[in-house]
Amino acid sequence: MCGIVGYVGGQSAQDVVVAGLKRLEYRGYDSAGVAVLADGGLAAAKKAGKLVNLEKELGDRPRPARRSRVGPTPGGAAPPPPPPPTPPPPPPGRPRAGGPGWAHRGGATRGAPPDANAHPHLDNAGRVAVVHNGIIENFAALRRELTGRGHALESETDTEVVAHLLAEAFSAGGDLADAMRQVCQRLEGAFTLVAVHADQPDVVVGARRNSPLVVGVGQDEWFLASDVAAFIAHTRAAIELGQDQVVELSREGVTVTGFDGAPADVREYHVDWDASAAEKGGYASFMLKEIADQPQAVADTLLGRVDGEGSLTLDEVRIPDAELREVDKVVIVACGTAFHAGMIAKYAIEHWTRLPCETELASEFRYRDPILDQRTLVIAISQSGETMDTLMALRHAREQGAKVLAICNTNGSTIPRESDAVLYTHAGPEVAVASTKAFLTQLVACYLVALYLGQLRGTKWGDEIRTVVRQLSAISAEVESVLATMEPVRALARSLAHHDTVLFLGRHVGYPVALEGALKLKELAYMHAEGFAAGELKHGPIALIEEGLPVVVIVPSPRGRSVLHDKIVSNIQEIRARGALTVVVAEEGDEAVVPYADHLITVPATPTLLQPLVATVPLQVFACELATARGNEVDQPRNLAKSVTVE
Ligand code: F6R
Repeated sequence: MCGIVGYVGGQSAQDVVVAGLKRLEYRGYDSAGVAVLADGGLAAAKKAGKLVNLEKELGDRPRPARRSRVGPTPGGAAPPPPPPPTPPPPPPGRPRAGGPGWAHRGGATRGAPPDANAHPHLDNAGRVAVVHNGIIENFAALRRELTGRGHALESETDTEVVAHLLAEAFSAGGDLADAMRQVCQRLEGAFTLVAVHADQPDVVVGARRNSPLVVGVGQDEWFLASDVAAFIAHTRAAIELGQDQVVELSREGVTVTGFDGAPADVREYHVDWDASAAEKGGYASFMLKEIADQPQAVADTLLGRVDGEGSLTLDEVRIPDAELREVDKVVIVACGTAFHAGMIAKYAIEHWTRLPCETELASEFRYRDPILDQRTLVIAISQSGETMDTLMALRHAREQGAKVLAICNTNGSTIPRESDAVLYTHAGPEVAVASTKAFLTQLVACYLVALYLGQLRGTKWGDEIRTVVRQLSAISAEVESVLATMEPVRALARSLAHHDTVLFLGRHVGYPVALEGALKLKELAYMHAEGFAAGELKHGPIALIEEGLPVVVIVPSPRGRSVLHDKIVSNIQEIRARGALTVVVAEEGDEAVVPYADHLITVPATPTLLQPLVATVPLQVFACELATARGNEVDQPRNLAKSVTVE
């Protein structure tokens, strides 16, 4: 939900972490805060609202840490330990270069986001400061325990509880990493924590359970962040942190242990995109840039994946081909846009492999009793690799012996780490909250997996696979040509900006495309948008059709299954006869739809199964333009965050 950046090194920590926060602006945005160790003290500042509020607050120097008195001891409780001595206030002024620090941007983890609930949170003595992403489920019990010992907690947040626990543990042992390990063993829930202590300067300590945190390794400098985007301008070398690990950054380097103190194996990896990929590159929004990035993202995702025989190269595979050959069922789990990619994949997997395939919302999957065993292949699709619902679904699947293959865009994230195999999409960083290029690359990855399974099972011949791979290779140029013809789509979007409702209809793979078009419009334009399977019209939705209601219809290729095409043309006639304003997305040269289309959007001819790769693009452009016309900020839609790391 939120972004965290930490730094130890020779540059001004405040400059580094605030710049890092800017790069994480897309993750969450209720509040922002910064804490820097400076000249024996802790300088901290925090503000509700946008990062700019914090920058204003900071001016060119952070506020000294605030001190609070220790609260009264409740009657009958054991006497509290004496409060730690109050140190002299840190001198005002800019922290010295290289003083370690971190910053946090995001939603208060509990409670509304007034300044008091924003991060960082400090202990009563103002010596320890902590930021937190996630939710600490047992915080109420811990809070009661702390107030019983005389701690005065000032906010409604679970994070403040951690600051107080850390201060206690530190006062006993004098080592922040040890204190963090002890505290983490008492916490329940999902969390990333990053802390500094004024008595251990030059050290930043982080911890993670079910919530992202990566280490950046520079030249005599180290970074901690929720996302590599925060430090990519400084280094492309990163270290994955595993579950239940504590990391200590100091001038000596990086130490990673488990919560139990056992040294952990660390795996360094190279981030294969650079700072410019995380910039807007001259576009008005990240979303526009990411829509424009799609031809490259699709091409990059295909690159080097398939050899002359049609064999697929997975990035990390711990599933032998012999086991994949034995697979008798595929279950796809994902959320939101990734779920729509999974719905499309189902058509390809069933058609090319003859395996039964179900696509399930990850958030529902584990609450029913899915029938899984060693012969089930579960495919978990996630751009971020951190979506908690998808992570929980894959754990549920593995517990029952199923093999899990992740399709993911984020190297080193939790979902691929916990899967048996992973195929990375090479979309590059996706910053806008609404997913665009990740969706197209997820589709490409799903098609590759389907082809691979088809080859292993002998349901597809090598020449058939090569034909589909050739068709997939042509898609990049086709997306490019769609993008070159979007001006009428933008004009149409602007003309419809005053409407309250837009409906989307599709059949077969066009149905998930309709759902995706509706989701984009909902999240960006905040309007009522719904996608339906066109065949369902007569079972209810047709009652919604009224004079002037815009309905976007995705029409399959007339060269493919004629039955599909003809049926949807009848659907368009039906809704138009009832007054709908029809916006028809159809293949170039499809004359049959022309008489019934109030607005026609054409896309290049593709095989039916691959059509979503081109048909989704105008819907992304449509939603982005319509939302902009309504005055909405497309990169950061209200109430949404890029990475949903809580259930
Ligand atoms: C919609 C959108 C979300 C995500 C969903 C899953 O535009 O971006 O619906 O697709 O939250 O996220 P990942 O793919 O990171 O698991």
